Amino acid sequence: MTMNQSFIPPKRTIMTPGPVEADPRVLQALSSPIIGQFDPMFTDLMNQTMKLVRNLYQTDNEWSFPIDGTSRAGMEALMVSLIEPGDRVLVPIYGRFGYLLAEIAERCGADVRIIETEWGSVFEERTIIQAVHDINPVITAVVHGETSTGCMQPLLKTGAACREHGSLFLVDATATIGGVEFRMDDWYVDAVAGGTQKCISGPSGTSPVSFNSRAAAKMNPRKQVERGIRTEHDAESEAPPVRSNYFDLTQLQDYWSPRRLNHHTEATSMLYALYEALRVIQTEGLEERFSRHLLHEEAIIAGVKAMGLEVYNNHEAKLPVVTCIRVPEGIDEEAVRQLMLDEFGVEIASSFGPLKGMIWRIGSMGYSARKENVYHVLFALESALSFFEAPVITGRAAAAAMEVYRHAAAASLSR
Ligand SMILES: Cc1ncc(COP(=O)(O)O)c(C=O)c1O
Repeated sequence: MTMNQSFIPPKRTIMTPGPVEADPRVLQALSSPIIGQFDPMFTDLMNQTMKLVRNLYQTDNEWSFPIDGTSRAGMEALMVSLIEPGDRVLVPIYGRFGYLLAEIAERCGADVRIIETEWGSVFEERTIIQAVHDINPVITAVVHGETSTGCMQPLLKTGAACREHGSLFLVDATATIGGVEFRMDDWYVDAVAGGTQKCISGPSGTSPVSFNSRAAAKMNPRKQVERGIRTEHDAESEAPPVRSNYFDLTQLQDYWSPRRLNHHTEATSMLYALYEALRVIQTEGLEERFSRHLLHEEAIIAGVKAMGLEVYNNHEAKLPVVTCIRVPEGIDEEAVRQLMLDEFGVEIASSFGPLKGMIWRIGSMGYSARKENVYHVLFALESALSFFEAPVITGRAAAAAMEVYRHAAAASLSR
């Protein structure tokens, strides 16, 4: 490519844990003309998007809107707005993104306490609850779905226990939202952030967040409206303000409410994309969408097993939208991925830290979770492994996946 050519990306089958293929309707929305940020059509779009974010997280929280930035921007906005320097924050860690939460909290000046469990496992909820009891944190922050290990932390009881102990419960739902059940209010989650490049099937760059009145009560005493737009009605806080201007959720509440007090310039095209992606999710239906993800997961597992490969995370706490495969001994994991991309245009992922070189991660998220993609990834993996003379059973994977699909189709017909 030279600089006098437009960039035209190749067509890929993306089966990674993100970014994944964007829904064509979202791509179309991205090409709509720009309108002004206070155009009533645009502010109406902001309001409609807030409703869709509430539906996504299964919450009645008024404060449910996107942060302009990737998923970690959403987490950072929640943390920098909630944490006052010295606040004790508990982070149970079971993979890479738990460390990220701890690091963000540290940078916000928190007194961070971590508990860890081996990568590839999750915590018993009672272990986290005991830690909340022992450590007495102001905030407990947990990753719901760890894409680095393909595991999902059960969260049915943790939130209620946090509430009982007066700890705010904050969750990173980047990997799960839109693909796996997440019930913010029922699970007593006080603040949550997610990303759009995974099961929501939009481009990376927006992070829907939601927080309840408990979280707002913790952050709002530090509210300070930007000097240049402050009015005589805006009280000046005695407390030191939130340390970030961009991620200051106390000011963003004014922007995402009828006051529409200007903060940043909302990312117009990204909001079009988010609205469309969430509208598509609402139209499909959350339950139907979760079932679709489970079906493709089952087909991938059946295909991988039929090749004689080992599914690394095939246990109770498996994250349904990420299937990890143990790399057979003597096989160069990177060379296999490269061959799959070069010859078949199919992308899968490696992992991080102690799992680097040990597993492949196949994502089946959002628009990428389709039958043809599952066949493509199985075919490309089997072919690449055969090319490198790995001990793999050939010719059975697609049939195994097909059996899953045909069985599901027959079951739905007989219903
Ligand atoms: C669970 C989880 N949390 C956070 C992140 C960070 O997301 P982003 O790259 O969108 O900032 C990721 C990205 O893969 C993730 O999987």
